[in-house]
Amino acid sequence: MDLIGCRLTLSPQSVSDDQQPQQPQEQPRVENQVVSHAVPSSQGGSTCRSYLFFVPHHYPQDGGTRPIIGWSKAMRVKTIARATLAGIKRWLAEEPSQEEPTLPFDNHYDRICRVFRQIDQVCHREAYVWGVVQGLALAKAIGYPRVSVIEFGVAGGAGLLALERIAEQAEKIVGIGIDVYGFDTGMGLPKPKDYRDLPYMWEEGSFAIDVDKLRTRLQRARLMLGLVEETVPAFVRSSFAPVAFVSIDLDLYTGTKHALGLLEAVPDALLPRIPCYFDDIMGWGYSDYTGERLAIHEFNSEHSMRKIAPHYGLKFFVPRQNVNSIWVECMYFAHIFDHPLYGARANVDRDNQLDLDGRWYKT
Ligand SMILES: C[S@@+](CC[C@H](N)C(=O)[O-])C[C@H]1O[C@@H](n2cnc3c(N)ncnc32)[C@H](O)[C@@H]1O
Repeated sequence: MDLIGCRLTLSPQSVSDDQQPQQPQEQPRVENQVVSHAVPSSQGGSTCRSYLFFVPHHYPQDGGTRPIIGWSKAMRVKTIARATLAGIKRWLAEEPSQEEPTLPFDNHYDRICRVFRQIDQVCHREAYVWGVVQGLALAKAIGYPRVSVIEFGVAGGAGLLALERIAEQAEKIVGIGIDVYGFDTGMGLPKPKDYRDLPYMWEEGSFAIDVDKLRTRLQRARLMLGLVEETVPAFVRSSFAPVAFVSIDLDLYTGTKHALGLLEAVPDALLPRIPCYFDDIMGWGYSDYTGERLAIHEFNSEHSMRKIAPHYGLKFFVPRQNVNSIWVECMYFAHIFDHPLYGARANVDRDNQLDLDGRWYKT
């Protein structure tokens, strides 16, 4: 006979161990079978019981036997409501409250998430908020007073304006100065050269900037106009605060390849690990053989001490509402292995030990 059933968790006061379930009304004869499960509960430190029973019935009308399922008589609506409310309360308690005490910002994921949520309330460019905050977390841990954040591919300017607002908020919270740069031709996309520039996707002249209009809106960002093939080498030769975050949204392989030349700068110009956001690597037939992914692939082949690698498993560390956000899959780190501070302690949580029972303690 197939047994089917459901389970309800009750508090111990409502169901005593020796209670038997109620017989159903229309009972001809038979072998009744009661099944009960004890399940642990964290509620109030006591163990709760869940009860269900399966009663095989013989039906004289048709001579068949079928199971019926019933609940113990002690299950009252009030108890069910109480258990449900307690569950909802526990669930709500998992959500961070707006009134959390402000803890000092450091390089822990939970602190990064807290500041991310704070800034994201006013600037809705989640990838940029995450990248800037994560870059600042490392800068703070290592002791940099000022950093640069960069957007490659500005177009209308919405992203650069967002980056400015994020920088303004983040500076106040973290206490590190931030310079903002935006690189673009100003005239839209260059002509795709070959299959690597994904000509099936991109068209020359798309996304041209209204430079004058954008300049009237920008507060602090510096607009670096021209092909990145020329502006990036010039920038690398200039003096700027160490780069703490880079967004790459140039669409084409050619521009991306040249933008990544920034990561060849001297170590002083870079953080040892730089969060990078790549906008055009998910969906649409993007591959390791074209577009931004090819540029990443080639950068890694051409540099033994500098590598661009995905931020693996980031979805397990971002706030719950972003677990399925596409940008989470687009976050990478540029690793500058030859940076003198690559090995500098960046975790502020120190002196941890584990005992035989797997519990953490400090020395
Ligand atoms: C999709 S748009 C950027 C959108 C922008 N990040 C945003 O979120 O609003 C791509 C931009 O990359 C710029 N671009 C592409 N290749 C370039 C190159 N080789 N040098 C400079 N800019 C380039 C184009 O001018 C275009 O404005």
